[in-house]
Amino acid sequence: MSNGLDIEEAERLVSVATLANRTSSVLEKLRDSARNARADDRREPTFTISKAAELVNRTPAAIRDAEKDGRLPEPLRTDKNRRERYTLAQLNDMRGVFGTRPYRAPGDPCCVVAVQNFKGGVGKSTVAVHLAQYLAIRGYRVALVDCDSQASATTLFGYVPDLDLDEEDTLYPFLREDERTSLDYALRKTHFDGLELIPANLRLFNSEYELAARMARGGFDALLNRLKVGIDSIADRFDVIVMDPPPALGAISLSVLRAANALVVPVPPTVMDFSSTAAFLSMLDETIEQLAEREMAPELQFLRFVGSKVDENKSMQKELLQLMRTLFGHAMVRTPLKDSAEIDNATARLMTVYELDGPATSSAVRNRCLGYLDGVNAEIEVDIRSMWPSHQAALRKAALA
Ligand SMILES: Nc1ncnc2c1ncn2[C@@H]1O[C@H](COP(=O)(O)OP(=O)(O)OP(=O)(O)O)[C@@H](O)[C@H]1O
Ligand SMILES: [Mg+2]
Repeated sequence: MSNGLDIEEAERLVSVATLANRTSSVLEKLRDSARNARADDRREPTFTISKAAELVNRTPAAIRDAEKDGRLPEPLRTDKNRRERYTLAQLNDMRGVFGTRPYRAPGDPCCVVAVQNFKGGVGKSTVAVHLAQYLAIRGYRVALVDCDSQASATTLFGYVPDLDLDEEDTLYPFLREDERTSLDYALRKTHFDGLELIPANLRLFNSEYELAARMARGGFDALLNRLKVGIDSIADRFDVIVMDPPPALGAISLSVLRAANALVVPVPPTVMDFSSTAAFLSMLDETIEQLAEREMAPELQFLRFVGSKVDENKSMQKELLQLMRTLFGHAMVRTPLKDSAEIDNATARLMTVYELDGPATSSAVRNRCLGYLDGVNAEIEVDIRSMWPSHQAALRKAALA
């Protein structure tokens, strides 16, 4: 390379660095101006007594009685002597008192569900975070593992990943250091009671390269198995572990597949995304076969496709959604996750639809959006519970009702 080119190269690198810095500082300002609360002062979602009753599977009268007879603490009152809304932590206490916790039995397997698609921007992080929060609201013990160095899921919990978090806070040390035996160090509580997060930040990107390089040098199987070892080390404490992988078939995505026992695949019904889903499925098939040759095939208990970012005003999307339903049959989640301004607006505030007490748009838009999210998540919840022998009688009863 000539000197001239070296200087040009240096200038190019400098300007990328400058742009990166400028962009980060603008992003920081945008975040401030969106007044998004940082992780430490995020508020947990709250519920009216009728919603609380529905969620803990008792009547409002049963809650009032338990408050009167001292099984539950007296409700907090507002200045106008109205009952304060209940927090998720209070709902979980009620579940304890009423014996309505939906936990799996100790012998049932922990559901490790990866929200996977090798295509970018299809709604993986949106689906993963809303699924994890939906399950926590229903009283399950949930961990969300952000496996993507872009850290979208982490951001939705109020962190500015590269300011607030160290690489030591992520999966990275566990993947790097064979001596570590548990992922416990990386779990942190969130503003959703019962939902813990393993966050990510840009540093996790290094582990993608390191893992790939070490795999190339040998010890492929052990490295591929490493994330599964980590997940297994924390699985005892949770009913469901949701993983949000990066959008490429790299070392981390492979490790996620290896660790999962269930898959949820978001697919926007556009021609481009549909063809990438076809590619995803053949890659998945090949990958599972390769893993099987090494006796490391994931034992998938369910595989569900979610039509995501659906715009049914577009006739082409309607047709493709129908085609997907025909093609995937029961594997296709019936409720489409429509494209919604509520999701867009909540994301712009770095929040989720479940965490906002009121609409980011209008009540009508918010209610419709909650309808799609709850619909999709309820179907996945049934799949999860179907993995648990202790839940099967209740599921059969519900199906007959
Ligand atoms: N149903 C929806 N309605 C409106 N916006 C949505 C919806 N689903 C996702 N989005 C938006 O699309 C963008 C990409 O979504 P998301 O980050 O969930 O995708 P991803 O598959 O995780 O992306 P990546 O591959 O980069 O990890 C986000 O800005 C998100 O807010
Ligand atoms: Mg993502």
